[in-house]
Amino acid sequence: MSQQNPKILILPGDGIGPEITKEAEKVLQALRARHGFAATWTHGLIGGAAYDDCGEPLPAATLEAARDADAVLMAAVGGPKYDLAPRELRPERGLLAIRAGLGLYANLRPALLFPQLAAASSLKAELVADLDLLIVRELTGGIYFGKRESVVEADYQVGEITLPSARVSRDTEAYSDFEIARIAKSGFEAARLRNKRLCSVDKANVLESSQLWREVVIEVAKEYPDVELSHLYVDNAAMQLVRAPKQFDVIVTSNLFGDILSDIAAQLTGSIGMLPSASLNERGQGLYEPIHGSAPDIAGQQLANPLAMILSLAMLLRYSLKRADLADKVAAAVRAVLADGLRTADIARAGEARVSTSAMGDAVVTALNSN
Ligand code: IPM
Ligand code: MG
Repeated sequence: MSQQNPKILILPGDGIGPEITKEAEKVLQALRARHGFAATWTHGLIGGAAYDDCGEPLPAATLEAARDADAVLMAAVGGPKYDLAPRELRPERGLLAIRAGLGLYANLRPALLFPQLAAASSLKAELVADLDLLIVRELTGGIYFGKRESVVEADYQVGEITLPSARVSRDTEAYSDFEIARIAKSGFEAARLRNKRLCSVDKANVLESSQLWREVVIEVAKEYPDVELSHLYVDNAAMQLVRAPKQFDVIVTSNLFGDILSDIAAQLTGSIGMLPSASLNERGQGLYEPIHGSAPDIAGQQLANPLAMILSLAMLLRYSLKRADLADKVAAAVRAVLADGLRTADIARAGEARVSTSAMGDAVVTALNSN
């Protein structure tokens, strides 16, 4: 990896993906033209776009280009058009395959409330004012990648009627101590850079894999005496997130629990169109993507909010390219356009004027170039 002339792979994907990608590229171009950024970037196919073009959601060429890049910036995948495609070929499989293929085990999902958007939260303003929490989700293990099967077990009796078969499907939640220790470390490291509080979320009162999870997290904690560790069962964690979300600093959890809790956390901010995420491997290489999906219902209409995508680019600059200076500039530009009152439809209040996807991107570039 060359940090001097970093290579970025851009994956626009499906739905609103291409539109929001265009805005992030305007920001990249501005960084290159005016802010001393020497990166180059290329494009690749993933998700439904890849399926349409080459019959599979993650073509080998995309994975190869991703391995060769310093970082990947992805928009979103999926759409109703692919609902009938075989499961292995659906757009989401492309996302799971690139996570596995690059070994992106640490998924960082910040939930940050922008003060200008406090009214957009579904919780009372005092519960979410200044909310700033981070979910560290394990991303390459657990039930997402465990053994699955569907089998015909036996004849199936319903009252008097014998049905010809009973089908049973299983998914497996399995975690090794290695996988747990590695993500626990990511959680502790992240907490160290923030307010030094880590909450590990599991279901150790029921699940064997969660008991191991808790034991290993407690072992790893010995290396981080400066970080305060707590544990919550996942049901309680979900409740606490909507009861008193500001009690959290960093949450570390498994793949499935993290999937669910991170959607709750995103909604606390009221603006899923604002939240970026990073998925990192052991080499610090990362895939950066907005938390929101491909929103096929509004695709192609210039309605989408490009800010989560632009903030994903800021995370890419910070974590993979080690350009905190540029990341700060991009984040400041986003704050500036919000302070100026620019709103896409998703973050506009009733009666507030709405700008298009590209007008929002242009405004970020103008703000970036004026500081
Ligand atoms: C996410 C998404 C994905 C997941 C889907 C699209 C496979 O919900 O990134 O949270 O479940 O991981
Ligand atoms: Mg999800």
